[in-house]
Amino acid sequence: MPYRKILVTSALPYANGPIHIGHLVEYIQTDIWVRFQKQRGHTCYYVCADDTHGTPIMLKADSLGISPEALIGQVWQEHLADFTEFGVAFDNYHSTHSEENKALSALIYRRLHDAGHISSRSITQAFDPVKNMFLPDRFIKGECPKCGAQDQYGDGCEVCGATYSPTELKNAVSAISGEKPIEKDSVHYFFDLGNFSDMLQNWTSAGHLQPEVANKMAEWLKGGLQQWDISRDAPYFGFEIPDAPGKYFYVWLDAPIGYMASFKNLCDKKDIDFNDFWSKDSDAELYHFIGKDIIYFHALFWPAMLTGAHFRTPSAVFAHGFLTVNGEKMSKSRGTFIKARTYLDHLNPEYLRYYFAAKLSAGVDDIDLNFDDFSQRVNSDLVGKVVNIASRCAGFIGKRFGGRLSATNAEPALFDEFINANEPIAELYETREFAKAMREIMALADKANAYIDDKKPWLLAKEDSKDQDLHEVCTMGLNLFRVLAAYLKPVLPVLVKEAELFLNVSSHSWINDIQFLGDHTINEFKPLMTRVDPDKIAAIVEASKETLEKTTDKPKPKQFEPIAPEIIIDDFAKLDLRVARIVKAEAIPEADKLLKLTVDIGDETRTVFAGIKSAYKPEELEGRLTVVLANLAPRKMKFGSSEGMVLAAGPGGKDIFVLSPDIGAVAGMRVK
Ligand code: 2FM
Ligand code: ZN
Repeated sequence: MPYRKILVTSALPYANGPIHIGHLVEYIQTDIWVRFQKQRGHTCYYVCADDTHGTPIMLKADSLGISPEALIGQVWQEHLADFTEFGVAFDNYHSTHSEENKALSALIYRRLHDAGHISSRSITQAFDPVKNMFLPDRFIKGECPKCGAQDQYGDGCEVCGATYSPTELKNAVSAISGEKPIEKDSVHYFFDLGNFSDMLQNWTSAGHLQPEVANKMAEWLKGGLQQWDISRDAPYFGFEIPDAPGKYFYVWLDAPIGYMASFKNLCDKKDIDFNDFWSKDSDAELYHFIGKDIIYFHALFWPAMLTGAHFRTPSAVFAHGFLTVNGEKMSKSRGTFIKARTYLDHLNPEYLRYYFAAKLSAGVDDIDLNFDDFSQRVNSDLVGKVVNIASRCAGFIGKRFGGRLSATNAEPALFDEFINANEPIAELYETREFAKAMREIMALADKANAYIDDKKPWLLAKEDSKDQDLHEVCTMGLNLFRVLAAYLKPVLPVLVKEAELFLNVSSHSWINDIQFLGDHTINEFKPLMTRVDPDKIAAIVEASKETLEKTTDKPKPKQFEPIAPEIIIDDFAKLDLRVARIVKAEAIPEADKLLKLTVDIGDETRTVFAGIKSAYKPEELEGRLTVVLANLAPRKMKFGSSEGMVLAAGPGGKDIFVLSPDIGAVAGMRVK
């Protein structure tokens, strides 16, 4: 087997949310493949990082009242802990907000620029005049221009599936401030992807992509390649573009460079030669595992960027499908949007590793996690077949033979059959046909169990004269178990480690040179895996429903905010603040935050929409006095016009306090 040098990556998860089981398909798939390569004796490095830049992360940190650096630091620790407990063993887990990434992004940009692949021009975009920032499409909401559905994002309608540009949305508002966006010009930088048409035509059809992905690429390439906008204006959490003050690299520019940066960080720690893996003439292999939603970035932009900056291109990009749960999209209300941590709180991570392995192929089809199937497969395959072989034989070896295996290989043909399966199984691992590999391994497990059923050690044990037979049969059973354990090691590293301790053997390399284990003392057998407890699955679903209610996306209270810029008394005098009585308060079912209030301000009543739904039930408010800004220009909102503003204080959530004048105040009184 020729020796290989391999660098492997999984997509970098965004640093603004937890890892969930949908993510885990990819990390478990990659980890199995990497562990397999390592077990085969190849040099294989697996690197990843948090994807830390961009507007959503900046705004999330802002809503939590912390810096983006603090947010990404916290999330990095949580992500790494989740991955580690799922057995995903990165050689390095870094961050795109790192010195290495900054330097490499600048270097790649500089090289693309110097080679004439970057251009700039002014473009017009939606701008939030309150937040003073350009609005990414995802942060503009309004009515769908096609079907009229309310509350749709600027990049497409979730109701009718239409895609459009945010300028086409009706009654568009900024999702950040609620204000109507204005249009504003600014200079943007573009990567001229069209310069790489020929290169990409060749690359995408040269076996680096799965056939179905290559076909999709051919369609896209036929449509022509657009320039790619790689800059964003301040405020933006990211890297400033060299020689372009106030302009930042778009997150998707520096994200894949994060693969290189994480590897560079590893190279510096471990004295590995970075260029050996990334130079144009590198003989190392480079593989990116990704979800099918980000193929465009990895199969077009990324190879073009690497080529333009004189680096090598990937050996292959491996895309996988999405995860559905019980046949449907993961859903928070159904409790199937399951965070890695919630799963870990209840169930053995190796169940999920095995289940995903049993479902994964080399293609881009979606895979389904069906809870009944999950329990059934784990119980039947791992507990009922594999572990059962060991538990059926171990007791006799321990009690009757002092833990010593027989020296005799009683069924050499059967043992050889198990060993000879190693190459076909290796080929299935290599080609990411994990489901097929698991089927082969389970077919062998069936054979091992059939052998034990046939020899009936429990009957042999009843006759003293059959001692030798009993010894040989159980020795054989444990040898077959050992081979299966070695085949399952990429998938079940913890179970197999325990099996190795039990068998008293050193860590298994791939099986092709394994010898029969005879005349050898083993250790006491402890159950290696228990059946899936259905109550635990129910508990996961229940806990996942709860996490929706206590959603972590809610802003943490900002207790103290900086004092706003100074005003003069004349400014204050412009405010007509009135004592008002809330005569009616109604919830608006479609609005997360708003209550509709009818307020009596003395000689007239007004309708005011107030963002206080999280703190008050409507009935608590009716009859109460409050203070209203009466001369605020009416604002057209989705649910009607708001004719004033109710004054309230507090950080948010349940802690919003509607200001209430003392008893004795009367509606209509001017607040002085
Ligand atoms: O889609 C995502 O979740 C991105 N954070 C993946 C980035 S992969 C790579 F290019 F960095
Ligand atoms: Zn629509």
